[in-house]
Amino acid sequence: MKVGKGLHRMEYKNLLFEIEEGIATITFNRPKALNAMNSETMGELLHAVTRCRNNESVRGIILTGSGEKAFVAGADIAEMQNLRPKEALAFMELGHETLRLLETLPKPSIAAVNGFALGGGTEISMACDIRFASETARFGQPEILIGLIPGWGGTQRLSRLVGMGRAKELVMSGELIDAKRAYEIGLVNRIFPPDQLLTETKKFAKKLAGMPGFAVKMAKHAINFGYDLAIDNAIRIETECCAQCFSTDDQKEGMKAFLEKRKPAYTGS
Ligand code: CAA
Repeated sequence: MKVGKGLHRMEYKNLLFEIEEGIATITFNRPKALNAMNSETMGELLHAVTRCRNNESVRGIILTGSGEKAFVAGADIAEMQNLRPKEALAFMELGHETLRLLETLPKPSIAAVNGFALGGGTEISMACDIRFASETARFGQPEILIGLIPGWGGTQRLSRLVGMGRAKELVMSGELIDAKRAYEIGLVNRIFPPDQLLTETKKFAKKLAGMPGFAVKMAKHAINFGYDLAIDNAIRIETECCAQCFSTDDQKEGMKAFLEKRKPAYTGS
């Protein structure tokens, strides 16, 4: 649905979705369950992320939570309570499919963590490229306290982001950490007062959206797909991605503008 100049909204039951000035904002919106993710909400997220991938006008994605208390308080415990392993597998696979799609999207994504990001909430934020947090945000993988382990990438993405020792500490104890600690261990990129979080996140998303798009895509690709490889193979990926940038008008314009001492005018081609 188009609402006014440049603003598009799409209706979901448990998400708010809007696109404004090339930035798609997906807001988790189940306040009565602190935005906990049931399978319906995860299905909606998959749909919204797919739309972001397919819509060329979207140049950046923000994920955040409605209200002031929670980003996402985890997978929905009420829905999971009586699952059998086969059903649990399907629920976890739906989450993995969604979050891997988000993580490998050829456009930047930022989690604006406005409150509790627990279990699946921390996991969703870690599938984004960058995490900004409000001073009141809290993170953790408390699944162990309910007889579980993380199921949407927490054992893998957390150790890659903060190191194995810290990941084991958080996953095995279920302890929560505040935004300051999350920043100290490298889980969070920047912290803002609650009332500035979304504005600052949008500002940064627009800044990234204004960068040469192909170079942003190549940077993300090289980091994502080189990270787990042996260094020689990883460097090969970077070399090829860097060389590909020389096929774009934006590379020509960027270098020309530098040498002419003027601001570049990127076209995204
Ligand atoms: N699932 C379902 N409902 C949830 C929920 C969740 N993950 N988290 C909160 N809620 C619901 C509560 O049941 C409560 O509902 P009612 O009002 O109907 O009782 C409502 O949200 C408000 O929550 P609280 O009353 O508990 O609020 P609080 O301020 O006392 O505590 C909290 C806040 C610390 C976040 C607490 O709600 C909490 O610990 N939530 C669960 C966190 C958790 O364990 N997350 C991991 C889930 S497992 C997972 O995510 C698996 C995976 O990796 C995929």
